[in-house]
Amino acid sequence: MKHKILVIHGPNLNMLGKREPEKYGTSTLDEINTLLTTHGSRTGIDVQTFQSNHEGSIVEKIQQARDVYNALIINPAAYTHTSIAIRDAVLLLDIPVVEIHLSNIYKRESFRHKSMLCDVVTGQIAGFGMYGYLMALDAIVNILQ
Ligand code: DQA
Repeated sequence: MKHKILVIHGPNLNMLGKREPEKYGTSTLDEINTLLTTHGSRTGIDVQTFQSNHEGSIVEKIQQARDVYNALIINPAAYTHTSIAIRDAVLLLDIPVVEIHLSNIYKRESFRHKSMLCDVVTGQIAGFGMYGYLMALDAIVNILQ
């Protein structure tokens, strides 16, 4: 059976390309999603992507991922640092979860050093720009195989 991986992008990531390119790069979210789905199909994986600026929508998407997806890649963006609701939703899952950040959150403002998710995910990747998403996908493929 084909593995299904869900990729969730949090608030303001729909503005990638225009948003602080010195921190987040010049690629758009569409380009990142295309890269992920193409890379996924090469390795025989079905990659679905979802972006929302709303905490509740992200929580609902994570809840729906139960029993549907084999792994989750999530960049919760600013909600990383604040959202107990997203943390609790991730705790509902019993699949590998990779937390990803384009920038190295530990090199930035101190309020970004805290992740509400870091101790409930399988692993975290930060600071490698869009390449980090591919690293996350490869890590998950390695876990699933
Ligand atoms: C981010 C880092 C967060 O601190 C920030 O709020 C974002 C993006 C990243 O990918 O580097 O929106 O998650």
